[in-house]
Amino acid sequence: MRGKDVRLEDVVMRFGSFTAVQQTNLTIEAGEFFSILGPSGCGKTTILRMVSGFIDPSEGRVLIGGEQMNGLGPAKRPTALIFQNLALFPLMTNWENVAFGLEARGVAKAKRRDRAYELMALVGLQGHEEKTPNELSGGQKQRVAIARALAVEPAVLLLDEPLSALDLKLRQYMRAELKEIQRKTGVTFIFITHDQGEALTMSDRIAVMKAGVVEQVDTVDNLYAHPRTPFVATFVGENNVLEGKISDLQDGYAVVETQQGAIRGINQDKATVGDKAMVFVRPERTKLLNGAALDNTFDVDFERRDLEGAFVNLFFKTNTGSIIVHEANLGQHKELEGRAKIGFNASDAIVMRSGELSDE
Ligand SMILES: Nc1ncnc2c1ncn2[C@@H]1O[C@H](COP(=O)(O)OP(=O)(O)OP(=O)(O)O)[C@@H](O)[C@H]1O
Ligand SMILES: [Mg+2]
Repeated sequence: MRGKDVRLEDVVMRFGSFTAVQQTNLTIEAGEFFSILGPSGCGKTTILRMVSGFIDPSEGRVLIGGEQMNGLGPAKRPTALIFQNLALFPLMTNWENVAFGLEARGVAKAKRRDRAYELMALVGLQGHEEKTPNELSGGQKQRVAIARALAVEPAVLLLDEPLSALDLKLRQYMRAELKEIQRKTGVTFIFITHDQGEALTMSDRIAVMKAGVVEQVDTVDNLYAHPRTPFVATFVGENNVLEGKISDLQDGYAVVETQQGAIRGINQDKATVGDKAMVFVRPERTKLLNGAALDNTFDVDFERRDLEGAFVNLFFKTNTGSIIVHEANLGQHKELEGRAKIGFNASDAIVMRSGELSDE
């Protein structure tokens, strides 16, 4: 099996007067584990359906391996699709389920069986070939569905929230499994999810979508360290937000007048004095201070402490909202109460022009 690249060129998808996907340009590399991440209704499945051929874009082109796909139905494209609610045939054995697509392609029975056994070994299901799907766990069933999709040797495997029906433990286990299957086959994976943890742990790159618009396409590391929009900053991981107006610029940094005083951060948007702006700083870059001051230091009121075992989240009230400090749990916070000083360095803070935040 070999992966192929997928390109969307100026693609737009309208349903009547409603635009589900605004003009989008996107290249997914051959053999990449690529995720599309965004809240419900933002257009993720619509993009997948345009790639798989269940719908054609209202405008623009879809290319796979450099070949134009517009007008070709799903059976004519080098893609396979795995839905959230997989439909295995309960009366067939697992290997027959896996081989299902091969019969239609005229592959002889002995060959189908060999191929199905091979694929079941690939997804870690040796010994389950002659059982039926209802003798398997949820995660095992999901792997049968993956083997079945791989049986037709797709260059691109499209996965629409395939783990959402599984419980948390199994979901986490299947993340590693999926990544491993992708590595072993070299097939291009396009994985849809609204779970950022899922996207971050598995993907080479992620496209973050909001309301029909791809806001940022980036590596996992860049997405976390350098979010480009207020929405991405608050949808991917936690971020503290302080709002205000820019009062000064100093080589690459902006000073924002907030309810907590003047806060300095990296002027990412090249905003100018007078612009309404937001300062973003990660909870693990925000510190509870004991005397020493950082570039940005201010007083807050302690609210509560949420233990996460090895880590602890400390919640503080600011003059306008709240701030989280994420620290290792070394037992140092037990007596915390009343006023506290917190702070962060300007190089850990990003200033952006004000925009819409994620509400999740
Ligand atoms: N066939 C259709 N006709 C009309 N509107 C549609 C159609 N398909 C999708 N939409 C609308 O387009 C928008 C995007 O839908 P889509 O299924 O792509 O969202 P999604 O990001 O996959 O959401 P979810 O996470 O809930 O699955 C939604 O507002 C949806 O109601
Ligand atoms: Mg969907």
